[in-house]
Amino acid sequence: MRILILGGTIFLGRHVAAEALARGHELTLFTRGLHGADLFPEAEHVRGDRADLAPLRGTWDAIVDTSGYASADVAESARLDAGRYVFVSSCNVYPDWPDEPVDEDSPTWTEGEDYGQQKALAERALEAERPGAWASVRAGLIVGPHDNVFRLPWWRERIARGGDVPAPAPPGRELQLIDARDLAAFLLDLAQDGIAGAFNGTAPIGQTTFAEILEGGARLHWVAEDALHDVEPWTELPLWLPERFKGTWRIGTERAQAAGLRCRPVAETIADVDAWLRERPELPDWRAEHRPPPMSAAREAELLRR
Ligand SMILES: NC(=O)c1ccc[n+]([C@@H]2O[C@H](COP(=O)([O-])OP(=O)(O)OC[C@H]3O[C@@H](n4cnc5c(N)ncnc54)[C@H](OP(=O)(O)O)[C@@H]3O)[C@@H](O)[C@H]2O)c1
Repeated sequence: MRILILGGTIFLGRHVAAEALARGHELTLFTRGLHGADLFPEAEHVRGDRADLAPLRGTWDAIVDTSGYASADVAESARLDAGRYVFVSSCNVYPDWPDEPVDEDSPTWTEGEDYGQQKALAERALEAERPGAWASVRAGLIVGPHDNVFRLPWWRERIARGGDVPAPAPPGRELQLIDARDLAAFLLDLAQDGIAGAFNGTAPIGQTTFAEILEGGARLHWVAEDALHDVEPWTELPLWLPERFKGTWRIGTERAQAAGLRCRPVAETIADVDAWLRERPELPDWRAEHRPPPMSAAREAELLRR
């Protein structure tokens, strides 16, 4: 197939590109050329900004859109000449999430400028432009090598340094993490098979636990939630939200599994993330990007004292 990826050179899109080439597809990547410009010499690279799609001339069997954030941009790219359109969305399309568990029938945002609101409006724009002929994968927390958002790697890097590590109790708290390579395979399956609809793209409920993702030799001290009262959820302690956000790791995934989403064991992802970190990858500066800052030794000691 001829596949156009809008994006394709940082994390998820990079895995989609690698998998598309491995499957023998003819690949075009559309990016500004700011990241990973030397990756994938076998693909056609078209340079440009999503705000102006004029450089993109041609027809494709399918588009995989990993870089759609502004709904107006997605409304534009939905008009490109392509048989199928697979959009990477987010569980943030649900106003109820993470407060409550959600599935694909949960209501989605109908207005607003925030990240999840724009993702929901992008899905609505796709329906307006290509009624019934698009797929959206509402991703949960994506993990794996090349992870620029750096939630799981933040923990793995800390565990590798060893010593005494404060961890959010309880150890058995469940999480759902989707390996970018499994998500990439699913996006391409939807594109190849022409499957339409919205799918929650993450691992099944109960896939793993905090204790499992923090294995590796550091001495873990499980700190009760009361003692984390002044900790900034999700960024100061990545992957942690207080228990009252009871939907965080209760995302229904049956529809995606029925459509073919398969998730590798989390131990395999962790081993590959550890190996990637040992290669000392060039990482985006946490001051400038989404990457959470490391916790200072003084702050760790303070949490350990509690
Ligand atoms: N990480 C998570 O846990 C998570 C969770 C839920 C959903 N998601 C979704 O998953 C996707 C993440 O994908 P990714 O960043 O890993 O994908 P990616 O495709 O690997 O990287 C983003 C690509 O888009 C290009 N790009 C960015 N802005 C552009 C613009 N204005 N015009 C043209 N190209 C542009 C970048 O290249 P240049 O910079 O060179 O242009 C890069 O190739 C997003 O849609 C995100 O909302 C992520």
